[in-house]
Amino acid sequence: MCGIVGYIGTKKASPILIDGLLKLEYRGYDSAGISTMENGYISNMKDKGRVKNLYELEGIHDLSGTIGIAHTRWATHGKPAKENSHPHMDNSNTFSVVHNGIIENYQELKAFLYDNGYHFLSQTDTEIIPNLIHYYYSRSTEIDEKLLHAIHLACKDLKGSYAIEVLCKDEPNTMIVARKDSPLVIGVGEDENYISSDIPAILSYTKNFYLLNDGDLAKLSKNQVSFYDLNLNSISKELKSIDWDVSACEKDGYEDFMLKEIYEQPKSVRETIGSRLKKNEKVNFEDIGFTKETLSKFNKIYLVACGTAMHAGLAVKPMIEKLCHIPVIVDIASEFRYREPLIDENTLCIYISQSGETADTIAALKLSKKEGATTIAISNVIGSSITREADYTIYTHAGPEIAVASTKAYTSQITLLTLLTLYFAEVLESVDAKVINEIKEELLLLPEKISEVLQDSTKVKDFAHRVYTEKDIFFLGRGTDYTVSMEASLKLKEISYIHSEAYAAGELKHGPIALIENGITVIGILTDPNLVEKSVSNLQEVITRGAKTLIVTNQELNKENYDEVITIPNTNPLISPILSIIPLQLFSYYISKEKGLDVDKPRNLAKSVTVE
Ligand code: G6P
Repeated sequence: MCGIVGYIGTKKASPILIDGLLKLEYRGYDSAGISTMENGYISNMKDKGRVKNLYELEGIHDLSGTIGIAHTRWATHGKPAKENSHPHMDNSNTFSVVHNGIIENYQELKAFLYDNGYHFLSQTDTEIIPNLIHYYYSRSTEIDEKLLHAIHLACKDLKGSYAIEVLCKDEPNTMIVARKDSPLVIGVGEDENYISSDIPAILSYTKNFYLLNDGDLAKLSKNQVSFYDLNLNSISKELKSIDWDVSACEKDGYEDFMLKEIYEQPKSVRETIGSRLKKNEKVNFEDIGFTKETLSKFNKIYLVACGTAMHAGLAVKPMIEKLCHIPVIVDIASEFRYREPLIDENTLCIYISQSGETADTIAALKLSKKEGATTIAISNVIGSSITREADYTIYTHAGPEIAVASTKAYTSQITLLTLLTLYFAEVLESVDAKVINEIKEELLLLPEKISEVLQDSTKVKDFAHRVYTEKDIFFLGRGTDYTVSMEASLKLKEISYIHSEAYAAGELKHGPIALIENGITVIGILTDPNLVEKSVSNLQEVITRGAKTLIVTNQELNKENYDEVITIPNTNPLISPILSIIPLQLFSYYISKEKGLDVDKPRNLAKSVTVE
């Protein structure tokens, strides 16, 4: 969703800003713009469409300012259009503002500003911010820090979420930023500072970052950053080093980020396992350090997330229940947060989020903390919002994921949740050590087995070529295979725009079979030896009705029954989603390529959904 970049230093700002926006394109957007501090005025250039179009705007190459703010917008209030794009300026052209998030009381503030003589050029909630700042600034009696005070007062009036950058014509060597419920980081260089909503946008300039907390404001000059809390008390912050590699944010010879990320999975899963699991040793979660007594008090576990991360939760539910004997409820964050879920101090709530910035997941986490639950955040992004809210945080260490459709984050989330389950079971002594050891051995073999799956994608590619013009595709499975069906179906929808449904194979006869007709494509996932016969019968039912079938399996099957069979290595059925999803990630990828679509930036979607 919307992205923010800022620069204050000695170099020409506009190329740095546009370069940063290009790196944020993956978040999803429909318009882009930049403001730079020029000699005596603020330049503001913006339009709907791609970031690269900014290079065609008249005068953009003449900008020489060394301070600037920039934005990619994903429309919420007001359609994608030049006038709704950011930056927005106040009526007197004194302030320029970019904003991520949603101002919930903007109608009320707009009415107030109207009454005070202000007018508006856009339909956005954002445009009230520069005008509100102007309102306080023009009435200020402060002698020192007039700008900071005015922005502080404006922020206090805002309800909802925001990450903002502000330029003021009267203070040409200063930039002020603030955040609440929307991410913002400051990257520190020599005689220059960078601002972004997302680390990858500025990772090629610096690896040293300040992370802002909710309610924080920061005042920047080229060689200084001062921090303030919501009451404008001066606060200090620790500079953090991020060890992500710059090349990890580039395509590295692959045609698309998604393909690169699919092929990175042997490495990312290995990184997730890291030092938590070594041969013949207990699983190491010293950082959590739960005792048997603490774990025994939990009478249920919630796994709460959105999208693919929620599917990772579904994949591990059977394992947690089987190995730890604790009931598990997997919930969609946007449902959980409004349903008054039954949680108390005996509930463990685990929040899964690649970005750590998904608005609904953060809100759900806050709710469960209020009810007294113990909370664990699982995230891929160091210092992201959920990691700062939760009682405990564990990182997937999958490396930056740029493609909107999540791939390596999913397999790393399941890997990490598997390790956590094994750890719980070891502490609880809830299951025979033999069972745990077998899964541990299999887990350590996974990176190699993933490489094996990735070695030859010809069959998947061919099958994608045969069916890419279809209107509907069905996915079937039972047990963990059903959870993989859901993720595979989501991947297909996201990047190929083909309508697709995932069904528990046993549910087929209760309705969906009515949709099966001659020539329809059905994909079956069959990796659990205890369920394979049942699923084979269900597939037979669709084949009889004329379906074309692709099967992903590690079982011995009569291949002649199916149009294509992809054989993957055998593993424990509880962790098989980590392997069986991979050919289906590739399937969606190749369908999208066949259709000539933008795989990494599918229409209407955003990588990080920072509004509810
Ligand atoms: C968006 C992304 C999905 C992702 C979901 C949850 O919808 O497009 O790929 O699974 O958000 O994101 P999170 O960062 O919380 O895992």
